[in-house]
Amino acid sequence: MTAPFPFSRPRRMRQREALRRLVRETDLTPRNLIAPLFVKEGIEEPAPIASMPGHAQHTLESLRKEAVDIASRGVTAFVLFGVPARKDAEGTESLNPDGIGQLGLRALKEELGDDAVVIADLCLDEYTDHGHCGVLTDAGQVDNDRTLDIYRRIAVAQAEAGADLVAPSGMMDGQVAAIREALDEAGHAGVGILAYAAKFASAFYGPFRDAAECAPQFGDRTGYQMDPANAEEALREVLADIDEGADMVMVKPALPYLDVIRIVKDATGFPLAAYNVSGEYAMVKAAAERGWIDGRKVALEVLTSIRRAGADLILTYHAREAADWLASR
Ligand code: PBG
Repeated sequence: MTAPFPFSRPRRMRQREALRRLVRETDLTPRNLIAPLFVKEGIEEPAPIASMPGHAQHTLESLRKEAVDIASRGVTAFVLFGVPARKDAEGTESLNPDGIGQLGLRALKEELGDDAVVIADLCLDEYTDHGHCGVLTDAGQVDNDRTLDIYRRIAVAQAEAGADLVAPSGMMDGQVAAIREALDEAGHAGVGILAYAAKFASAFYGPFRDAAECAPQFGDRTGYQMDPANAEEALREVLADIDEGADMVMVKPALPYLDVIRIVKDATGFPLAAYNVSGEYAMVKAAAERGWIDGRKVALEVLTSIRRAGADLILTYHAREAADWLASR
């Protein structure tokens, strides 16, 4: 039987890879990836993170090596998290010009030079003994405006250590405006801000909290991070951050919030990153280890879907291996 005309035959363009490539809508390249790295104070050897296979808390030396290795694969943007040896209620170490976060930034800049973009995660939870993203009031609530004063000083310390961009992840109100002002006043008008604009109070951050040793010691983060049910509010958060001077914005996590990524991209057209977070990574790794899924194919499918949803950039723990897979495809 012949098909009636007109009759769509989508399978015609699926016959071979060369044809599929021709009509492919979404690209995934190493240029789209940002690699998160952890550096820890006071260790002699890198300490593997059990819940994040392939990742470790680095020494300054292993951090340099890892970054160079990743950069050689074409992933040339990094976001750095510092894990200090000493924590206190105010997160004092975050300000130390010779603290681990700042030493890590300097090491990356020195090693990678102008060919890479070094992004400093800007938050207090790795530095406070209570594990919250800000300092506390006497009543034990996170004090928004006193936290902003500290964020301003962290931003300047990070800029002075060589950060190209700072990335405030604490979801305090007004954090982008406060940091922008502080950077400008300190003569760092050239340092940009990647705003964790719509960051949800997610259960997908579990492995990261092992890696950064920053699980809250009481309560949770629902008082500052967003309710997973809210997409319209996410757009308002993003618009506010753009208004306050953000240079790029982020939605986090990625996979459970693909709709939010699409809404934000359509509404703003702004440079948009999505964070494929630790729990998303751990799920893929755990299932792949058991032989239940093909880890490589699933990871590439996940990353492609985040790009298809509208993210320009993806912060992902798959960065290094994905760059290898893309090169051999
Ligand atoms: C907080 C911060 C977190 C992540 C990045 N920055 C954890 C949190 O909010 O509890 C999570 C990233 C991930 O899960 O990969 N500074």
